[in-house]
Amino acid sequence: MPHRFSLATIGSLSMVVAAGAASSPVTFNKDVLPILQEHCQSCHRPGQIAPMSFLTYEDARPWAKAMKVVVVTKKMPPWFADPKFGHFANDPTLQQNDIETIANWADNGAMEGDAKDAPKSVNWPRGGWEIEPDLIVKGPETAVPAHTKNDVVEWSYVTVPSGITEDTWVTSMQILPSEPSVTHHICVSFREHTPDMKYNEHVWVDRPRDESGSTLPSAVGFNARIIPKSALSGSGGMEGCYVPGRVTQDYRIYGAGKLIKAGTDILFQLHYTPNGKAITDRPLVGFTVAKVPPQRQYVSFTTATPADPKVFAIPANDGNWESPAVERTFTEDVELVWMSPHMHLCGKDMTFRLVYPDSGTETVLSVPRYDFNWQLGYDLAKPLKVPKGTKLIVTAHFDNSINNRFNPDPNRTVYWGDMSWEEMMVPFFAVVVDRSVDPDSLTK
Ligand code: HEC
Repeated sequence: MPHRFSLATIGSLSMVVAAGAASSPVTFNKDVLPILQEHCQSCHRPGQIAPMSFLTYEDARPWAKAMKVVVVTKKMPPWFADPKFGHFANDPTLQQNDIETIANWADNGAMEGDAKDAPKSVNWPRGGWEIEPDLIVKGPETAVPAHTKNDVVEWSYVTVPSGITEDTWVTSMQILPSEPSVTHHICVSFREHTPDMKYNEHVWVDRPRDESGSTLPSAVGFNARIIPKSALSGSGGMEGCYVPGRVTQDYRIYGAGKLIKAGTDILFQLHYTPNGKAITDRPLVGFTVAKVPPQRQYVSFTTATPADPKVFAIPANDGNWESPAVERTFTEDVELVWMSPHMHLCGKDMTFRLVYPDSGTETVLSVPRYDFNWQLGYDLAKPLKVPKGTKLIVTAHFDNSINNRFNPDPNRTVYWGDMSWEEMMVPFFAVVVDRSVDPDSLTK
């Protein structure tokens, strides 16, 4: 279990550093590069979200001292799950000896070392991909203006043909915007094709707003009018999203897949934020494809608290408002594999708990310090068997006080809404079941 950062840790760290320096010198090639490859380069390479690359010594050397600071304070690699609950396959947290190696290297001249000690460079996918897609679907173009009133660009929905002509089991999915700097989020749903389908047309969710850009209370609510019913059935319709800090979902970890039927259309839910420069985004969706249909299917769920302003209203200056909980009861045996909290700038914490039918409750994920910029997904290291009748209860708190440095204005009541200065309480999760099971029958 990773240690929490404390003064005691720093004390012992400098002793280790001194002892290490006396024996064999820590070098980039021998000691540091393997750590960077395993824990940092997924983001710290060209085309990914981190602003600087750590592929080579020349790239990494200027950041030696900063690296030490961020690994000792556990700011990097980013991870927000409370280590007391659950083990996660994608937990990038460094072991204490790796932290000490980086600190030691930074404190002792950040030397390059011998090239023959370096591990082979990692063959990272090109073109911004985290997966090596077998199949790429082109998304719709959206022109994002340089500015709008209050910088609101309402959500829109656009359908495109998938181009998939035979039933296809996909095993991972990544959404890749061409312009991440304006992309707030993109979610996709699979829809059965209907003859009246109009492709590449934006359907805008226009909401009446007040002068400050907040949705008028009478217009608060989910976009049910706009989202076609077929996209809302069963699991909630969202198959995957691009959000800050999360772009890929990998079903391969669990030997599972998702079936995309021949002729399926793909519905995009798009939200952009102007950044001062007019720009056109054109996202791609990449999939890896199973050679043999997997025995198990991966089913994604989108849940939410009621958006009703009578029950979802975060009082001004309230630093710890608890929203109504989200509850789902499993009506079949399932295996829980993934969870991801979604809130906006006032989001403070979220906890996922299972209440078993006979007795006992278990916390399966706790994110005590939610950060809008890091909306990570948490892949359970081992699928968790959840018997029929178990209830999933998700609770969350919001910080609408001045102590929340992301809070745009603590002096107003915050209601549910599509913009980051409005709020949401949307727990996502996913389960794995046999592929013969109807995914629409798993919860109530
Ligand atoms: C999931 C993606 C991701 C991973 C993994 C990751 N980083 Fe970062 N890192 C970022 C992003 C994005 C930024 C810039 C924004 C920020 O500072 O939060 C950043 C910033 C940094 C900075 C600059 C901090 C500053 O204060 O200016 C350092 C140093 C750093 N990372 C080191 C590391 C090291 C070392 C690792 C591996 C042990 C690592 N990062 C892993 C995404 C990542």
